[in-house]
Amino acid sequence: MVVASMTSMVISNLNPETQTKLMDNIKSFNYDWFQSPLALSTWKLFYKVLKARREAIDVIKDVLTRRKESKEKHGDFVDTMLEDLEKENTIFDQGSAISLIFSILVVAKEGVPNITSIAVKFLSQNPKALAELKREHMAILRNRKDKGGVSWEEYRHSMSFTNMVISESLRLANLSPVMFRKALRDVEIKGYTIPAGWIVAVVPAMVHFDEATYENPLEFNPWRWEGKEMIWGSKTFMVFGGGVRLCVGAEFARLHIALFLHHLVTTYDFSLVQDCELIRTPFLHFTKGLLLNISESSK
Ligand code: HEM
Repeated sequence: MVVASMTSMVISNLNPETQTKLMDNIKSFNYDWFQSPLALSTWKLFYKVLKARREAIDVIKDVLTRRKESKEKHGDFVDTMLEDLEKENTIFDQGSAISLIFSILVVAKEGVPNITSIAVKFLSQNPKALAELKREHMAILRNRKDKGGVSWEEYRHSMSFTNMVISESLRLANLSPVMFRKALRDVEIKGYTIPAGWIVAVVPAMVHFDEATYENPLEFNPWRWEGKEMIWGSKTFMVFGGGVRLCVGAEFARLHIALFLHHLVTTYDFSLVQDCELIRTPFLHFTKGLLLNISESSK
């Protein structure tokens, strides 16, 4: 779902066949190959991933070239990218623009479903939080005047617990295990000096699991966010990074997760088939998938 909606927002004028091809390649660009270098399967998967990347890049390159020549406008992200490429002080060239478009599609495909599944896992194991979430969304349905889908107002003003669930899932998941920064000048921190030019690895989990900020940090407790203003990129909550490199897709990701949870809890009952293990190798994944019993909701 995320790949479909992202692809059409980023490149809106693809014919259905090319769009399917692009989506298939984005989906095939995964981290399943990240295994032992000694296993033959690693290299077979790695080859498939590189091939998917090359084919996706070819589609994007073709679109960019044609749109540049035709000067047609479609109100999508490619328009924005082309306008930027024409600016005198642009930081992009054709190659980096193509890479950015490709990365955005991949990041959306990796990040949003991962956090959504992790939220579903935590909710399945926490009946109190699930009941509270259901209560919030059933109230939205009751108060909805028209028969349309979720409105922007509902998302902004009636999903406070949902946002608490999302923040808590993001905090525990630490989807980006590490971020890199370069010290541009000597930096003094607690008696240590980071010399200019050094690369610093920032590990957000160190902050997100710090008991001084989060009581019982390993516990899934959405209520810890009650009444707190969620500031992205703060020193105690850096799930989307911080500073000038703050994730541009943060709000998009939250919105998608909220929409999914809305439909899930208002339409279905669900429970885990078996306990599922989440591991980091170094990317997060469920060792045996996330298997759910799911049935239409008894309301
Ligand atoms: C739950 C999902 C997501 C998580 C946890 C996440 C996390 C992050 C983090 C931690 C960074 C900062 C990296 C750094 O400082 O080195 C980042 C940057 C970025 N993210 Fe996300 N992201 C998510 C979803 C998305 C989506 C959906 C998009 C695209 C629509 C996106 C696009 C980007 C881009 C383009 C950057 C680089 C920004 C820059 O360097 O100026 N992300 N993301």
